[in-house]
Amino acid sequence: VHVYAPAYTPAEVECLVGLADHIYFNSPEQVARFLPMVKRKPGIEVGIRVNPGYSNATLGGALYDPCAPYSRFGTLPADLDKLPWGDIGIFHVHALCESLHDGSVGLIRHVGRAFAPYLKQVKAVNFGGGHFINKLGYDVFALIDAVKAFRAEFGVEVILEPGAGLVVDAGYLVASVIGIHRNEKDIAILDASASCHMPDVLEVPYRPPILGSGEPGVHPHTYIIGGKTCMTGDIIGEYSFPKPLGVGDRLIFGDMMQYSFVKNTTFNGTPLPDLAVLEEDGSYRVLRTFGYEAFRDRLG
Ligand SMILES: Cc1ncc(COP(=O)(O)O)c(C=O)c1O
Repeated sequence: VHVYAPAYTPAEVECLVGLADHIYFNSPEQVARFLPMVKRKPGIEVGIRVNPGYSNATLGGALYDPCAPYSRFGTLPADLDKLPWGDIGIFHVHALCESLHDGSVGLIRHVGRAFAPYLKQVKAVNFGGGHFINKLGYDVFALIDAVKAFRAEFGVEVILEPGAGLVVDAGYLVASVIGIHRNEKDIAILDASASCHMPDVLEVPYRPPILGSGEPGVHPHTYIIGGKTCMTGDIIGEYSFPKPLGVGDRLIFGDMMQYSFVKNTTFNGTPLPDLAVLEEDGSYRVLRTFGYEAFRDRLG
């Protein structure tokens, strides 16, 4: 188990030393404060997150770039000599976001060039997440070559921790049209919501795919697709369809497994969708439903 946070409370570290195999700290301040606690538990490897000053976030601008100016993530190169390298086993960087192989390889080579004296003092280097490994066009062999070359040059293990890249373009959210409205443009209101069920649509922002739809004007019937919450900006986007939408029509959103699942909320009383598996033989299995009790139990 690898654990990282930009800062911990003492109670968290006390708990984590019983659970984690590797604990990563963000700054010399956190290392100085918590190293004694970690050292009391033999066998835990300590990592340090470094801000490598390498940016390759392909979306979201500074909001998704861990190395953007004033980022709170990672020890700056100028502060590395303040660290007790004898107690640190893992050199960690996380600098990518939905990056193709050029980002992964670029980061690996940059770290090799910029941090060689420190790399020689650790057992492992963790190149973080943001490697969009399963995205069409990602050259996995370029990544493998870069990892092999890095390992050979520095004699270290290499760790990668992609999240989104493992499930890219997987998972569907099936929503229903529950109202049609007109205000100069046609508007379809769903039982799903950008702010509740796909917050990254608003945060990044990005446009999720809807199966069978096109950009506005591509098909004859264009709609603004909105959620049912009170938030004015709860708009998923503008999409066109071959046929007019009507109440009860289903819209299937793609690429919903990444951060949509883990960041969703029930704001405004909007129910969460069931989690279900559609088997290849067409059978449908509900894994989990979220009712009022789930909402109540979270609020206390
Ligand atoms: C330290 C660290 N590692 C790995 C990840 C996973 O990133 P992704 O899901 O973009 O691959 C994140 C996400 O923010 C992260 O902060």
